[in-house]
Amino acid sequence: MSAPALGVCYYPEHWPEGWWERDAARMAEVGIKWVRIGEFAWSRLEPTPGNLTFDWIIRAMDVLGRHGLKVVFGTPTATPPRWMVDKHPDMLAVDAQGRQKGFGSRRHYDFSHLGYHEEAARITRLLADAVGNHPALGAWQTDNEYGCHNTTYSYSPAAKEGFQLWLADKYGSIDALNKAWGNVFWSMEYNRFDQIELPNLLVCEATPTHNLDFRRYASDQVAAFNKVQFDILKAVRPDLPVIHNFMGRYTEFDHYDVAKTLDVASWDAYPLGHLAVSNEPDDVKRLYMRQGEPDYQAFHHDLYRAVGHGRMWIMEQQPGPVNWAQYNPDPLPGMARLWAWEAFAHGAEVVSYFRWRQAPFAQEQMHAGLLRPDSEPAPAYFEAMQVAEELESIGLTGTANKGRVAIVFDYQSEWAWEIQPQAKGFSHSAHVRALFAAFRKHGVDIDILPPSTRSFAGYDIVAIPALFAWNDDLRSAITEFDGHLLIGPRSGSKTEHFSIPEKLAPDLPRNLLDLKVIRVDSIDPTQEIEVKGSGAIHHWRERIETKANVVIEDVDGWPVLVNQGKLYYLGASGTKALVQRVADYLIAETDLPMLTLPAGVRCRTREGYRIYVNYGATAATLVPAKDETGYILGSTEMPAAGVTVAKLATGA
Ligand code: GAL
Repeated sequence: MSAPALGVCYYPEHWPEGWWERDAARMAEVGIKWVRIGEFAWSRLEPTPGNLTFDWIIRAMDVLGRHGLKVVFGTPTATPPRWMVDKHPDMLAVDAQGRQKGFGSRRHYDFSHLGYHEEAARITRLLADAVGNHPALGAWQTDNEYGCHNTTYSYSPAAKEGFQLWLADKYGSIDALNKAWGNVFWSMEYNRFDQIELPNLLVCEATPTHNLDFRRYASDQVAAFNKVQFDILKAVRPDLPVIHNFMGRYTEFDHYDVAKTLDVASWDAYPLGHLAVSNEPDDVKRLYMRQGEPDYQAFHHDLYRAVGHGRMWIMEQQPGPVNWAQYNPDPLPGMARLWAWEAFAHGAEVVSYFRWRQAPFAQEQMHAGLLRPDSEPAPAYFEAMQVAEELESIGLTGTANKGRVAIVFDYQSEWAWEIQPQAKGFSHSAHVRALFAAFRKHGVDIDILPPSTRSFAGYDIVAIPALFAWNDDLRSAITEFDGHLLIGPRSGSKTEHFSIPEKLAPDLPRNLLDLKVIRVDSIDPTQEIEVKGSGAIHHWRERIETKANVVIEDVDGWPVLVNQGKLYYLGASGTKALVQRVADYLIAETDLPMLTLPAGVRCRTREGYRIYVNYGATAATLVPAKDETGYILGSTEMPAAGVTVAKLATGA
């Protein structure tokens, strides 16, 4: 694996050709190694059907290559040109209210439209042939941000037909489907697959299995769309990585499935934009408005490392104010550097800033770049240069170290609780992220694992919160695991067909734990229930019947955390304080080494180093950890937005 490096997103079609040479020279001066191009350029690559004009982009690649820059070539399928809509009027996606979307922005295509699949395959093949052997080419990107602007689901005739075929294939007979969906319930039984509608525009809610299967179907269409491009690109250049740029906090399709046809997962990190549009409490928003929420980026780095089979890039890194939140603050000086360093700490191979020069025209004219619209450097230009110099002098290798703690993240569980929350706002990802933050507060390295994990060997603690249904892989992984295992709340409370399991939740294999959830108490989050000791419950409380040892109970005497040996069950959704108490208890039980981190400071280890970042708005002082032999960047005194890199003792 090559040394980590910086990149930038560049749109040669936005600028006069006479500017390219100087742009490329300046990129090289900054220390940038990778340049992503092409992903929105279809109307310039094929202005009218079949009229291919690839010469200009090849010249742009020549220029970049002359300056030692490597190109990530993005297939332009997120922005089909206007003539494409004339050719395939029914390729436009349809929203849940049945309204067809229009042309004039981007991502207007329907994943189920087979004609558009063919068009996407055609342009991908033509581009692969035209630029696939260009010496500057180093990687491919497929499309751009699948699902962005709520585009995973479409309620079009193409989607309906595709869904019916998908169901016929999945269930084999209509009786099997009727049974799996529980259609006898309101006389919803079907006689044939071609009678089945999409789950929108109904009088009230569809059966949850209907909804869940539609989401599974839609997710499969994204994966199928990606596979078409992957197969073509790999056939031309088997040696080059194929990457997709995923998004933050986006869960509408199963990213693990899409990544079955990717070599690397990347994501687009906009820490301030994402905090601004998040439902974080106001005090967090106020404290971190210029830095981003301190665990948000790290969680996604770890998630996408898992999605990408251990390989992760940042394809777009926020460099300054963005344009798409309600308010778009200016980052604290130093954050464009800190965000890059944090990504490298979590194993990023490349961090690529979005974008090179701020565009003075069109939708994103208020979005900062490394250059201002007048081509003068914006602050992030110098921060990127500093990161490049630091990378050069330190010479990082390898990737993020394996974590001591692992948390399972499952897209279907996210969909399941959106479909049937029972308590408004109950969410799988919120439980995962709360535990992630609680462990990370002690400087513990964490891995995120997919639900297809077959073995947890090597981890001290594994958590599986709010998992919708067990699968065979997870059942065998938990049966064989000899570390500390935390399950619940709500884990294993459904079958894969979205019904309550016969034995009731948590439906553990071979009675690993003597426990049954016999009743559920769904609570308005403003009505907290105190827990004896400290912490409180909100949203969700389970009445459990158990002979296991009770570790924590609430003021009403309901068990909250119980254990039988190393297997723990958590029967409630907790406040931050309760989640922290549970994490602290497990860390103490396992003797995991903990660090004392100042508020706002976070860290992770990457082969030979521990990298600290200070998200706080004020300076912080580190307590040196026992396994560190000194600092090669920064020191124990960390300014706001500071970065400190400690060297770890060999073998640490
Ligand atoms: C991303 C997208 C880019 C650009 C950027 C602005 O979501 O991939 O094309 O729009 O946001 O922040």
